[in-house]
Amino acid sequence: MPAISLRHRRRLVALAGTFVLAGCAQDAPQDTWKPAGENARRIQNLQWPVFLVAGIVGVIVMAAIAWVVVRYRDRGQPMPKQSHGKPALEIALTILPALILVGVGIPTVSTVFKLAKTSDTECVINVTGQQWWWEYDYPVQDGCGGISEPIVTSGQLVIPAGKHVLLRLTSRDVIHSFWIPKLNGKKDTVPGRVHTLRMEADQPGIYAGQCTEFCGLSHANMKMEAVALYPEDFETWKANQLKDYVKPDEGTLAATGEATFTANCSYCHQVNGLTSTAADGTVTPVLANPDQYVVSGSAPNLSHLMTRNTFAGATWDLLTQECRDKVWNASPEEFGALYLQGVTADCLNEVDLREWIRNAPAKKPMYSSDAQKADSGGKVRGMPNLGLTDTQIDQIIAYLLERN
Ligand code: CUA
Repeated sequence: MPAISLRHRRRLVALAGTFVLAGCAQDAPQDTWKPAGENARRIQNLQWPVFLVAGIVGVIVMAAIAWVVVRYRDRGQPMPKQSHGKPALEIALTILPALILVGVGIPTVSTVFKLAKTSDTECVINVTGQQWWWEYDYPVQDGCGGISEPIVTSGQLVIPAGKHVLLRLTSRDVIHSFWIPKLNGKKDTVPGRVHTLRMEADQPGIYAGQCTEFCGLSHANMKMEAVALYPEDFETWKANQLKDYVKPDEGTLAATGEATFTANCSYCHQVNGLTSTAADGTVTPVLANPDQYVVSGSAPNLSHLMTRNTFAGATWDLLTQECRDKVWNASPEEFGALYLQGVTADCLNEVDLREWIRNAPAKKPMYSSDAQKADSGGKVRGMPNLGLTDTQIDQIIAYLLERN
């Protein structure tokens, strides 16, 4: 067999080294080994000892197999005398693993119960898996510092830091799985069922996650972020979500955008407070009816889009790289003020937003073929290509920029 040349060997070593180092990269926003909240820490406190025990057992078993393979390999020796075995050793090898399993089982079951606790909940948020984005709604409650009117948002789950938040997870269409590794383990979201998941973040900041159950074409594009704010900043965030609709000033690009949005986007996307005026002067609220146009029957509420940092299932940032880095790298003390600024005109990532509005399915796979679209009674799966002109896109972006 030809020997591997020294150069190739060096390359192999370098390649292996790259993988090892990549695994230890500092900038890993979804690192399960770096818990940032109570529940994730409970999992961490369990996974370390279990990993250690399983590792030691694994090494001992491998070493024993290696020893037997070498020591008793076939050297042409005669068949050894057969015996019943050694009862003492067999009993010991039955009891020892049983004890190890009990030793691992007690803290495991105890952790499962602690993670399932709901009695200390301070804030309830409903989470709905959609194809392919997450919807969050904050029901009216005394929790979360008091919520007087429902709040509906998507992509970024905003929570008060240091509080026990209870997520009630469900799904509209298929099975998804909600996972923000630094805050807790994963939990499937199943249509027709409500699963609960505890969330708690020690410090303000953004915690990344993604859907971890295959849910169709854009499963890999179904991300989410949990945003933790100090309770006083969370109060400001809530107030911002409930602010009244601000009509664009007459004669501005945004005002034309309002009309373009109403004519093209408002069938699926709700903007609270948007109205239309008929020729005779009657004003009626514009209500989205996504169930008539999209298979999923749902589309993100865009009322306060620019208070979020992401769009289209948190797959793209609404902030330019530079502005995003500032928010992500902010200290816990500075984070709230930066996040609450939302997306300003000079921080808007117009490139991705423009591409999205121009031809969404080209950017994020949503329906596999026109045939499938025909099968769904003309309804589309996800946002369609609306065939908008550059001028119309300019107007819509100007309008959306004022949705803060
Ligand atoms: Cu939703 Cu995968």
